[in-house]
Order: sequence, then structure tokens, then C-alpha cells
Amino acid sequence: MASRGGALALVALCWLELALHGAAAPLVPAVYVFGDSMVDVGNNNYIQKCKVDCRADYPHFGVDYPGHAPTGRFSNGYNLADQLAQLLGFDESPPPFLSLPNGSLIPQMSRGVNFASGGAGIRDITGNGPVWTSENRTAADLVSNSLVFISAGSNDLFEYVDHIQVPHNQNDTEFLRLLVASYSDYLKDLYGAGAKRFSVLSPSLVGCCPSQRLIAQKSKDVDQYGCLGAGNNLSRQLYPMLASMLHDLSLQMPGMNYSLVDSIRMAEFIFNNTHTPAYNFTVLDRACCGSGKFGAEDGCDFSADLCENRDTYLFWDDYHPSNAATKVAANGIFGDPGIFVHPINVQQLVQPRPQQSI
Ligand SMILES: *[C@@H]1O[C@H](CO)[C@@H](O)[C@H](O)[C@H]1NC(C)=O
Ligand SMILES: *[C@@H]1O[C@H](CO)[C@@H](O)[C@H](O)[C@H]1NC(C)=O
Ligand SMILES: *[C@@H]1O[C@H](CO)[C@@H](O)[C@H](O)[C@H]1NC(C)=O
Ligand SMILES: *[C@@H]1O[C@H](CO)[C@@H](O)[C@H](O)[C@H]1NC(C)=O
Ligand SMILES: *[C@@H]1O[C@H](CO)[C@@H](O)[C@H](O)[C@H]1NC(C)=O
Ligand SMILES: *[C@@H]1O[C@H](CO)[C@@H](O)[C@H](O)[C@H]1NC(C)=O
Ligand SMILES: *[C@@H]1O[C@H](CO)[C@@H](O)[C@H](O)[C@H]1NC(C)=O
Repeated sequence: MASRGGALALVALCWLELALHGAAAPLVPAVYVFGDSMVDVGNNNYIQKCKVDCRADYPHFGVDYPGHAPTGRFSNGYNLADQLAQLLGFDESPPPFLSLPNGSLIPQMSRGVNFASGGAGIRDITGNGPVWTSENRTAADLVSNSLVFISAGSNDLFEYVDHIQVPHNQNDTEFLRLLVASYSDYLKDLYGAGAKRFSVLSPSLVGCCPSQRLIAQKSKDVDQYGCLGAGNNLSRQLYPMLASMLHDLSLQMPGMNYSLVDSIRMAEFIFNNTHTPAYNFTVLDRACCGSGKFGAEDGCDFSADLCENRDTYLFWDDYHPSNAATKVAANGIFGDPGIFVHPINVQQLVQPRPQQSI
């Protein structure tokens, strides 16, 4: 478990106001969530060795969550897993795997479970193997009709760029190639366990989160958006590699369908268009919760500065997008008409289709 907090803003144009409040039955039987702090809903609260820097179960986290409750979400309010689950018609997003009492995993699997853990990277989740087996036809149908939602890769990039774990004699392209190969193995494991519908969030411009902007300024590696050039270069190289990996997998694995978010272009779109009918972001570089330069010199906790107009901030803390930013992203993931999400969006991905062979 890395201690890096997590992934960066993934931001999208809000095409539609897609609130499905009190809608009919959910569009899928279950959602299974995997990955990092963009989508962790509290698993890290249950990890003993995870201390303050990889937890979010204290104020000011959750200040805009119902009841102002810090829950372990790395956000002021809802995160992307919550917002996507709501768009799919669920009242709330699936519960943290580690919160489930012994013996309740199997019944909960039919309604959805969240396995994401803040700080996790692709290299952490690979090798964990399938988390369920589809032993009977009913269970197999249920899993294959459900949605797997994955946000991973940003932490691997942070660690590489910030020279934390990876020795730097490494060739960037080779590093990314190995990362994508691990990601591919992981998706194959999930497919082997019965999953067929994958929504994949690519890492966004990791160099643009406040923590990396601070590094950019110190190291004088500042790109056109005021972000860390090295980090953003890696993100830009990674996206097409992920896209072609997923395309290849869909050819190899019968019945597999996917929806890939081009988080790079989504982020650029917001930087290029800060005010639209769907959102108004006036602060793009600074954490809402945090202190010092970019609000990133000291992390978010009860003693940190807290901004007032939180919906105008792109970033909640030094690594994570605000509730407002993830809402824009979730609407894009769900309903984007082919501009930022390829080859289909999640609404299309979850359409009922003729039963496929297993
Ligand atoms: C659940 O199972 C684990 C391992 O089998 C055990 O260590 C733990 O005490 C159990 N928890 C409860 C609440 O029974
Ligand atoms: C098959 O799986 C479903 C869904 O998990 C479960 O409710 C049911 O009890 C299982 N049936 C058998 C015979 O194991
Ligand atoms: C880096 O790795 C790529 C792919 O593995 C290779 O094509 C390229 O020549 C390598 N570059 C250097 C400078 O070693
Ligand atoms: C990022 O990529 C651009 C264009 O490929 C290149 O000019 C620049 O030197 C790269 N910057 C870093 C820090 O790698
Ligand atoms: C799902 O993937 C299959 C190939 O595995 C493809 O033929 C089909 O058109 C895809 N369905 C949708 C809705 O994109
Ligand atoms: C944003 O603006 C930059 C610079 O003008 C341009 O290169 C890029 O393509 C734009 N991106 C989007 C998604 O509009
Ligand atoms: C953003 O600001 C514009 C004009 O200032 C306003 O028309 C629009 O409703 C605002 N959008 C939101 C979501 O607040």
C-alpha cells in the first residue's frame, strides 16, 4: 500500500443533467468497484497499517457529505463511485469490502461491492486474483450483466515521477508497457471470473493536481497548464496504450465490452472551458482543503484551511478532485456522446443484450 493518497481529477463536460432521482430499478444488478482513492468509499478505514496519510475518515473530509460525515472518501462529498452508482439508479454506492461482516460477502456480491483502496496502483491490484467465482448459472449471469468500474494507474505514475519506488534508470516507455501489461492481466482475471462489462477510467493529467504543481514549480518543469511536465507527459503516453490494450482484449475475449474514459481530454476541456452552463470552476490549481502554496504544502485535516465556495474548486485536496469536479466527470462517463468516452459510454455499455455464451 502506497501512502500517496491517490489519483487526480478526472474531469468532464457535463453534457446532460442526468440526475435520475428516485428512478426505477437500477440499470445493472450490481456494480463492482476496483482501484484507488478516486473510488475508495472507506476500505482504508479498516487497514490497520494505514495511518493518517492514507485515510480520509476525519474532518474536513466529508464536509459536504450527508450529515457532514467523514467516511473515508477522499472528497468533500461524494466520489466518482458514488456518483456513477447514483446515475445507474442505485440509492448509494456499493459498500466497502472490508466493512462486510464475515459471511456476508456472497449475498452482498449480488448487489455490488467496492474493493478500492486509496493509494493502490495497478501493480498492487494485479496478482490479487479473481474475487469471486461464478459457480452457477444465476451467479454467472448476474456477474456478466453487472458493471465493473476501475480507476487505477495514477498512483503508479505519481510514484514513478516522484522517484519514490522505481529506480530511475528505467525507460519511460518500457515502464508504461509493463504497467499496461499488468492492467491487461488483471482484466483477464476479472473476465475469467465472469465479468463482461468494464468501465475504465484512465489516469488524468496527473501533473496538474496541486501536489504536483508544487513539485513543478520547485523543479522548474512547468507545462502549458502550469502543471508538472514529466507527469503529464507520462499520462499522455499512457492513454493510447490503454486504449489499444482494451481494444485487443475485446477481440480476444468473447462478449467482453468496455467503456474507456479519455481523462486527458476531459481535463484539457475543463482547463480550456472553465465556465459552462454545467459548472463554473474559478480555482483550478489550488486545493480547497490544505495550506501553503497551492494548498498542497500541508495535507487536508481538521487544522487545514478550508475554502468556502467548494463547487468552484476543481481540487478538493492536494491529490483529489472536488465533489463538483467528480460530478461533471461522472455525467461524462455515463452519458458522453463519444467525445471523451470510447467506444461507448456507460449508459450504452449496460444496455441489455442477447445472452452471450460464457
Ligand atoms: C472474520 O474472519 C477472520 C478470519 O477468518 C477472523 O480473523 C475475524 O476475527 C472474523 N471476524 C468476525 C467479526 O468474526
Ligand atoms: C447461485 O447463485 C445465486 C446468486 O449468487 C445464489 O443466490 C444461489 O443460491 C446459488 N445457487 C446454488 C444452487 O448455489
Ligand atoms: C525504451 O523502450 C522502448 C520499448 O520497450 C524501446 O523501443 C526504446 O528503444 C527504448 N529507449 C531507450 C532510449 O532505450
Ligand atoms: C514532454 O514532452 C514534450 C513533447 O513531447 C517534450 O518537449 C518535453 O521535453 C517533455 N518534458 C518532459 C519533462 O519530459
Ligand atoms: C460488445 O463487444 C462485441 C465484441 O466482443 C461487439 O461485437 C459488440 O458490438 C459490442 N457491443 C457493444 C454494445 O458495443
Ligand atoms: C485545449 O487547448 C489546447 C491549447 O489550445 C489544445 O491543444 C487542446 O487540444 C485543447 N483540448 C481540448 C480537449 O479542447
Ligand atoms: C455558471 O455561471 C454562468 C454565468 O455566470 C451561469 O449562467 C451558470 O448557470 C453557472 N452554472 C452553474 C452550474 O452554476
